[in-house]
Amino acid sequence: MRVVRTIGSLRQEIKKIKSREKTIGFVPTMGALHEGHLSLIRKARRENDVVMVSVFVNPKQFGPKEDFQAYPRPEKKDILLAKDEKVDIIFHPSEKEMYPTGFLTSISVEGITGILCGASRPGHFRGVTTVVGKLLNLIEPDILYLGQKDAQQAIVIKRMVADLNLPVTVKICPTIRDDDGLALSSRNQYLTPDQQQEAPILFRALKIGKKNILNGERNAAKIVDCIRKTITKHSKGKVDYIVCVNADTLAPVEWIKGRIMLALAVKFGQTRLIDNIVVRA
Ligand code: PAJ
Repeated sequence: MRVVRTIGSLRQEIKKIKSREKTIGFVPTMGALHEGHLSLIRKARRENDVVMVSVFVNPKQFGPKEDFQAYPRPEKKDILLAKDEKVDIIFHPSEKEMYPTGFLTSISVEGITGILCGASRPGHFRGVTTVVGKLLNLIEPDILYLGQKDAQQAIVIKRMVADLNLPVTVKICPTIRDDDGLALSSRNQYLTPDQQQEAPILFRALKIGKKNILNGERNAAKIVDCIRKTITKHSKGKVDYIVCVNADTLAPVEWIKGRIMLALAVKFGQTRLIDNIVVRA
């Protein structure tokens, strides 16, 4: 496995791979790799000749009061984990390499970035699409692997890929969870022991919502209300949003029909956790 830190050497590697007509599977990450990331890497490994993983804590997707400084950066551990999964190349650039002095360009998807996570994190998705757009441009992968855990991010990136005619297939992979149901996230390590006890209520509440839909409830407001009550009754979590939306477009749903997504963001202290569940009514 090679660790590549500069755009110059990345370009050379890509040129070599392309000249051998090998397929590239790409998994962008911010590091602090866990089983969620590893599930994407394993799928990429099964489906491609070459697997590329980027590790870059992207300053542009963090708000001024967010956890950019505190975000975990266990570089050595990440490299070992990636090696174990037979990753071919890790791209681990510095901030200066990605955003040199004078950098002025951004990629912005409109509309669907102003709701849900975008409403509480202004500029977040612009940061995400800008960095992922740059990475796709540099790496030219055949397949891009993203996690369903960050459902809005996946939908926004799919929109960018379609709108800009980027020649890549986007695959969204299932959310990997702890035994207690908590969706794995690099941010889970911020939780105090008490919060760790409480946080699994998020998935339990989503599952109750799903069960109610499968039992025939079609009123989205009632489902959302039930999820909210379950969370506030069993935890100190502060709800940012709980929504019932179209699973592909994120359009709000009042009367449940077809493939919908129940999605939420809840803050435990300073730690904001997101999760979602897709239901076919
Ligand atoms: P990061 O949070 O490190 O996540 C990298 C990828 O792993 C994303 O596609 C995310 O959806 C996926 N992922 C995270 N937790 C997961 C879980 N429990 N199960 C399955 N997949 C999971 O998302 C980002 O980084 C950044 O925004 C990035 C796309 C790299 C741009 O900077």
